[in-house]
Amino acid sequence: MCGIVGCVLKEKKAAPILLDSISKLEYRGYDSVGIATAVDRKINLKKDAGKIKEVDKKLDLKDMEGSFGIAHVRWATHGDPNKTNSHPHLNMDRTIAVVHNGIIENSAEIKEELIGEGYKFKSETDTEVIPHLLDKYMKTGLDLENALRKVLDVIHGSYAIAAICVDEPGRVVATRKDSPLIVGIGHDEYFVASDYPAILKYARDIIFPEQGEIVVLNPDGVTVKDEYDNVINKEVTTINWSPEMAEKGGYDHFMIKEINEQDTAIQNTLTQRENVQQIVDELKGDINRVVFVACGTSYHASLIGKYLIEPLAGIPTEVLLASEFKYSARTLDEKTLVIFISQSGETADTLKALDIANETSKTLAIVNVVGSSMTRRAQYVIQTQAGPEIGVAATKTYVSQLTAIYLFAGLLAGDEELLSKLEKVPDYINEILKDCDVIKQLSVKYRYAKDFFYLGRGYAYPTALEGALKLKEITYIHGEGYAAGELKHGPLALIDKGIPVVVLLPPGDNLEKTMSNLEEVRARGADVLAIGARKDKEQFTHAKDIFLINDEVDEIIAPLVYIVPLQLLSYYVAISKEGVDPDKPKNLAKCVTVE
Ligand code: G6P
Repeated sequence: MCGIVGCVLKEKKAAPILLDSISKLEYRGYDSVGIATAVDRKINLKKDAGKIKEVDKKLDLKDMEGSFGIAHVRWATHGDPNKTNSHPHLNMDRTIAVVHNGIIENSAEIKEELIGEGYKFKSETDTEVIPHLLDKYMKTGLDLENALRKVLDVIHGSYAIAAICVDEPGRVVATRKDSPLIVGIGHDEYFVASDYPAILKYARDIIFPEQGEIVVLNPDGVTVKDEYDNVINKEVTTINWSPEMAEKGGYDHFMIKEINEQDTAIQNTLTQRENVQQIVDELKGDINRVVFVACGTSYHASLIGKYLIEPLAGIPTEVLLASEFKYSARTLDEKTLVIFISQSGETADTLKALDIANETSKTLAIVNVVGSSMTRRAQYVIQTQAGPEIGVAATKTYVSQLTAIYLFAGLLAGDEELLSKLEKVPDYINEILKDCDVIKQLSVKYRYAKDFFYLGRGYAYPTALEGALKLKEITYIHGEGYAAGELKHGPLALIDKGIPVVVLLPPGDNLEKTMSNLEEVRARGADVLAIGARKDKEQFTHAKDIFLINDEVDEIIAPLVYIVPLQLLSYYVAISKEGVDPDKPKNLAKCVTVE
């Protein structure tokens, strides 16, 4: 999704800092980049389609005068990725520049009206209506801030907007609705940005603007006002994420760095036990149903929630895709606890569902990004402690979400045995990471495959789904996860000689049955990769390849551990393919702020 940055500095050139900041939002997925600054009553504008490095090489983005400005990485929605459609967009007089993340749903109508009034449009974007509207309102005598307030009465949709005007030097105005925006306060420098990595190097005191609030950055500080022009005293939160956490730190890619940080992510999330206990104490006895809601990887984490909460706490539990929530959740009531799982806390589908659930039910958000919209809108919050995750494919945030779910389920059920098992999970993961050469070798063998299957039963089924998703996302190879027992009801027809089938075989009640499924695919010529416990090795001799895991990892805690070889397999297959960047898979975005 698009990323925006704005900054006001004292006696420093804004362009190099804007370039550095916007580069930190590359992970969001983008196709174009642009920067605008203003100096001497003139907007300087450089923008084009392409990767930041390429565009910088061509246009020298750092070389722009001006101590305040805005920047953008675009993820095309309205109009192809090209120079004209890239942000920032200007008014006809080239006195106002605007960047925008989100979608203006009524842009077509507004455009028609503006054209009728003599405004000429250059791009196919929905965004371009904003600089023209600002122009129109400023021509009635309003300043930029009040013109922006007026624009908000006219536009519908989701947005984070930042704007500058040559008539108001040293000022950036910004606002948001249903799209993320944070404000950073540094030493004599002030920022707005879509996400932390953009500004961690410069500011760690953060303000979270609410929907429709107007932020004004000046060389002397930040003001936040409500829709009626009242100044709001906003709380400033100092965040403990360091700039290094958003750097590769010697690794080739963020994804492999983040896979290696999973032990710490789990340990840190376990420190939330007291907070989770408090939430459980407040809710226990007051709920008779749990509904999980999430998208993508977070949905797979939610599925484990059902496997834990129903048998352990005896509470009926469902799991819904956030995008399907409004069609299927018709029976929520005050005894229902709806749990929202999200890395970003900004996913549009999940946020929408949260708003609906807040009307009738109890809501709990399990979220990684501090201060994100979900943490502010849910009634209860568990903060996962994975630190910033930059790779588009979720890894350490997935195991952190699982950790939070295990904590919640374990405390709800008073299952001390389960809770104590969690303590050793970081060690089991580190053992796998030490064996990563085995996976590297397997990836050489499997990189030419066109289709992959992943099979798991019970607790291992969501892991099969997540393994297949990781493969699709970053290698572009087709992968399907199946409940092992479902195989014979269709997909077995696709199993042929040489098709890789990854079978998850953690020790426990399901092992024997899954072994029969392994035999079914092997008999049809599949290349089976068995992943199971060391002690069961003899049973896996029919598999073509075997990857072994610590015997203590039983099927209940297996989801936290067995996913790691699958993440590694996807990563090593991805990097063995030319032109594939596992951190920024094509067509995907880290934070999806449109429905
Ligand atoms: C995008 C990301 C996925 C993520 C999903 C849900 O599709 O690429 O990695 O799982 O959104 O995001 P959330 O932030 O709500 O967990």
